Amino acid sequence: MPIRIEDAVTAPALAQGQKAMFIKSYGCQMNVYDGLRMAEMMAPHGYRLAPTADAADLIILNTCHIREKADDKVFSDIGRMRRQANKSAIIAVGGCTGQAMGASLMQQAPAVQIVFGPQTLHRLPQLLEKVQSGSQKRAVDTDFPELEKFDNLPTPGAYGPSAFVTIQEGCDKFCTYCVVPYTRGAEISRPAADILAECQALATQGVREITLLGQNVNAYQSPVTSHQSPVTLAKLCEQIGAIAGIERIRFTTSHPNNTSPDLIAAFATNPKLMPYFHLPIQAGSNRILQAMNRNHTVESYLATIAQVRAAQPHIAISGDFIVGFPGETEDDFAQTLQVAATVGFVGAYSFAYSPRPGTPAADLPNQVDELTKKERLAALQAVLDHTTEAFLTQFIGQTISVLVEGPGGQPGQLRGRSPHNMPVNFTVENGIDPASLPGQLVEAEITHAGPKSLLGRLARS
Ligand code: SAH
Ligand code: SF4
Ligand code: F3S
Repeated sequence: MPIRIEDAVTAPALAQGQKAMFIKSYGCQMNVYDGLRMAEMMAPHGYRLAPTADAADLIILNTCHIREKADDKVFSDIGRMRRQANKSAIIAVGGCTGQAMGASLMQQAPAVQIVFGPQTLHRLPQLLEKVQSGSQKRAVDTDFPELEKFDNLPTPGAYGPSAFVTIQEGCDKFCTYCVVPYTRGAEISRPAADILAECQALATQGVREITLLGQNVNAYQSPVTSHQSPVTLAKLCEQIGAIAGIERIRFTTSHPNNTSPDLIAAFATNPKLMPYFHLPIQAGSNRILQAMNRNHTVESYLATIAQVRAAQPHIAISGDFIVGFPGETEDDFAQTLQVAATVGFVGAYSFAYSPRPGTPAADLPNQVDELTKKERLAALQAVLDHTTEAFLTQFIGQTISVLVEGPGGQPGQLRGRSPHNMPVNFTVENGIDPASLPGQLVEAEITHAGPKSLLGRLARS
C-alpha cells in the first residue's frame, strides 16, 4: 500500500514565518516510513509540506540505490528541480543513494547542499542549520548510529487506517547483488516496548492495520538485558494484536532463513495476522542461488512454503525475483519459471538484474545482455500475472472483509484491501453514505476478479 507523501499530508497555506518543504520518497516502504518521519520532525522547525517542489524552501529527496534506474531518477529529478524551484531552495539528499555516495554525490550534482543517510535523518535540522547559518556551504552525515534515529523522532502521526511501523533495519546477509547491507548498515531491532508504544499511539489515532517493516523483518529480536528472553516477531505480533483497535497485522520483507517455527505457527494461531506472506526466493536454480549467496536452496524454500501452507492453507505467497543474474543460463531461467508456477505466487515482484557498484556480482564474468534480461523478465511476469489472476478468481462469489481506505478507481466506488492484501474496489447501495466507511472494516461480496484486483459490492448486513 504505497502512501505518497504528497497525498498523505494536505498542504494548507503557509502561516507567517513558516517555510515550505517538499519531500519525495523513492524505493521501498521503509523509505516511505522515513519520509513521513522527516516531515513530522521538520514541522516544529517551521516547515510545512508542499505538494510540489516549485515553491519549496527545502527539497528533500529520500532516495533508493537498489537498481541503477532508481539512481538515474534521482539525478534527473535534482536537475529538473534545480531549474524549476526557487533559486534559494536548499536541496537535501537522504536515503540510500545519499548513504552510498556521501560527499561524492555533491560532485556529481553540485546543486545538492546536504547529504545524509537512512540512519542519520534525525540530524537533518542540525545539518540544515549549518548550511543556513553559512558556517558550512555543504553538510554531509553518513554515520551509522544504532537506533539513535528512533529515539530522536516525534511520535508518528496516522495518515489513514493503515500504517507502517519500522521494527528492524539493516542486513547482515550480503547477497552478492545487493547494496542494502552497505546503505542501511548491520541488522538492528528496536526495543519491543518502543514498538508497542508506537502502535498504541497509531491505534489511538484510528489506525486499524499495522504493517511491520524491516529489511529482514523476520530476523526481528528485541534487544534484551540478561535474564530476559527476547521478543520474537511472532510474539510481537501477538502483543500488537492485543492493542484495542488494531484488527490486522502484516509484516514485510522476510528472509527464508529467518522463517522460524513460531512465526509459521502464528499464521494459524494469531487471528489478527493476515494470510499474506512476502518471502523472496530470487531465483529457481540452486546454482544461481549459491552465486547470489542466498544461503538457501529451492528445496528448502519450498519446504518452508509447505509448512506455512500447512498452518494457513489459504495464505497468499508473494515474493521477489531477479532475472538475468550473471551466469544465468536458459536452463537456470526455466527453473525460475517452473518454481514461480509451482508456488503460485500472488502479486510477486520481479526485476532485471542491475549491476551495482561495490557489490561482488557486478564484477562476475558472464553478465547477461540487456535484451535477454528484458525477454526473461517479460516471460516471468507473464507467469506471475497468471498465478495472481488464478488466485484472485477463487474469490468470485465469496464475501470477504475489506479495510476501507478511501474513494475507488471509478466514481461511486470505494477502495480497500482484502485480508490477502489484494486491492478491492466496491460499490455501495443507496442509503449508505460512502463517506462514512473509510477507516472501517466491512464485508464485500466479490463479483469480478481483475488481473491485479477484485471488484464487488458492499454486503448487506
Ligand atoms: N531484504 C529483502 C529485499 C530488499 S531489496 C529481501 O532480501 O528480500 C528488494 C528486492 O530488490 C530484492 O528482493 C531483490 O529482488 C531486488 N534487488 C536487490 N538488488 C537488486 C539488483 N542489484 N538488481 C535487481 N534487483 C535487485
Ligand atoms: Fe539485500 Fe539479500 Fe539483505 Fe535482502 S537479504 S537486503 S536481498 S542482501
Ligand atoms: Fe532502496 Fe534503500 Fe529501500 S536501496 S529498496 S530505499 S532499503
